[in-house]
Amino acid sequence: MKNLERVEKIAATYNKLITPYDEWYKANKWIYDLEIECVKKALHLIKKETGYVNAIEFGIGTGRFASYLHNPEEKINLKFGMDISLEALKIAKKRGCIVWLADMNSVNFKPGIFNTFVFITSFCYLTKYEKANILKTLKLHSENTSSFIIVGTVPGETPLGQIYSQQRNYIEFFSHIEEFSTSEELINLFESQSAKFVKYWGFKIVDSDSSSSIKEEVNDFTVFLFKLE
Ligand SMILES: C[S@@+](CC[C@H](N)C(=O)[O-])C[C@H]1O[C@@H](n2cnc3c(N)ncnc32)[C@H](O)[C@@H]1O
Repeated sequence: MKNLERVEKIAATYNKLITPYDEWYKANKWIYDLEIECVKKALHLIKKETGYVNAIEFGIGTGRFASYLHNPEEKINLKFGMDISLEALKIAKKRGCIVWLADMNSVNFKPGIFNTFVFITSFCYLTKYEKANILKTLKLHSENTSSFIIVGTVPGETPLGQIYSQQRNYIEFFSHIEEFSTSEELINLFESQSAKFVKYWGFKIVDSDSSSSIKEEVNDFTVFLFKLE
């Protein structure tokens, strides 16, 4: 399938199913809260190193993460984002995000504005080729500055990753995903593009409940932090 056709199919899926997608977070609030906490840990580490975070989210969806994490008083700016789903962006805009309808494969903004690039369950929608390509582009945008990439994902080797991989055949959201990369594949890919692995935080979802806790390890949902150098 051609890239444009694939991207259009992903957009159509999210346009059609955006309400149930967004409501999933309400019904599974404990997962949402822990996901937020994992991303927060990465943002605070970046802030500790650079003094501030100026971030943009790729595949911002309904803005559940950006709108919650944007905190100018704490010098954490995360209100900008792009997505290919117009229906998702309408909700993100209502949540206060500044958004544009764009394919992350054709990112183009002035270098040096952002020091952090965020992908929450959106990096997996890229093909292998697109993943490498976007990292090259981000590196070019980050020349002369130190920048960070945050990837929140379900690694392929985890119990949930295995379930999602099987569900690709019949769950529309997953059918567009080429593969759920394992943590090793992800780290190898980033390091091959000069993005150094810094740390990860994860928590268990399968057979778990709201008492699940975040650990510095790979689990069903994991946030990876990389530094572009
Ligand atoms: C699983 S959702 C995650 C949304 C949001 N980050 C969140 O965690 O709630 C994946 C999002 O990535 C977007 N997406 C997929 N491929 C994209 C592309 N090539 N460019 C921009 N957005 C894309 C989808 O439209 C969708 O909103």
